[in-house]
Amino acid sequence: MAEKSVVILISGRGSNMQALLDARLPARVAAVISNNPQARGLGVAKARGIATAVVDHRAFPDRAAFDAALAQEIDRHRPDLVALAGFMRILTEAFIERYRGRLMNIHPSLLPAFTGLDTHRRALAAGVRIHGCTVHFVTPAVDSGPIIVQAAVAVLPGDTEEQLAARVLAQEHRIYPQAVRWFIEGKLKLEDGRARIDGECRFPEAVVSPLARR
Ligand code: GAR
Repeated sequence: MAEKSVVILISGRGSNMQALLDARLPARVAAVISNNPQARGLGVAKARGIATAVVDHRAFPDRAAFDAALAQEIDRHRPDLVALAGFMRILTEAFIERYRGRLMNIHPSLLPAFTGLDTHRRALAAGVRIHGCTVHFVTPAVDSGPIIVQAAVAVLPGDTEEQLAARVLAQEHRIYPQAVRWFIEGKLKLEDGRARIDGECRFPEAVVSPLARR
């Protein structure tokens, strides 16, 4: 069987991209593409010998023109999967439809709570006891779409935004490679608007925070 390939889209630091590269997935990362020429992750990808490209959104008159150029760059690599890893542009419906069922995103909250930006600050302000991250297939509404996998972390007393972000990020780096691996192995599909994982394991325990003392 031909080796599967992934294109990763980033806008900044690229730590999730790096987690995908470190995971030794049974797929080729064909390219890392950024809308931001300054994205730190581009250097990391280059240093690993991965093809990089910049499609600078500021060079285009509107979202449709940017998305068309981005799609053209992606399609040169004929990827099986397009993984958004801290890609901070809103995508048009036409772009999302083009990659239906093979476009994934990671978001730093337990969706559907806290879509959009500043998720950790808003979680602290809301006083939630449990926070986390979500990998999902992308559909036209921002930060929504069929959920593939989530990881929860406790919000601890006195947490700063940075402490909470770091606790969540460590989980992002676990669940994103896992979701991509399932997809590459053919175990994960978008079906009737839901993410279906073959052989999905079941954990009946509830996650509770603060932990009850026995
Ligand atoms: C990550 O926390 C990711 O979940 C978030 O941006 C950060 C990028 O960090 N994505 C979103 O907020 C998407 N709506 P990274 O560049 O180090 O992976």
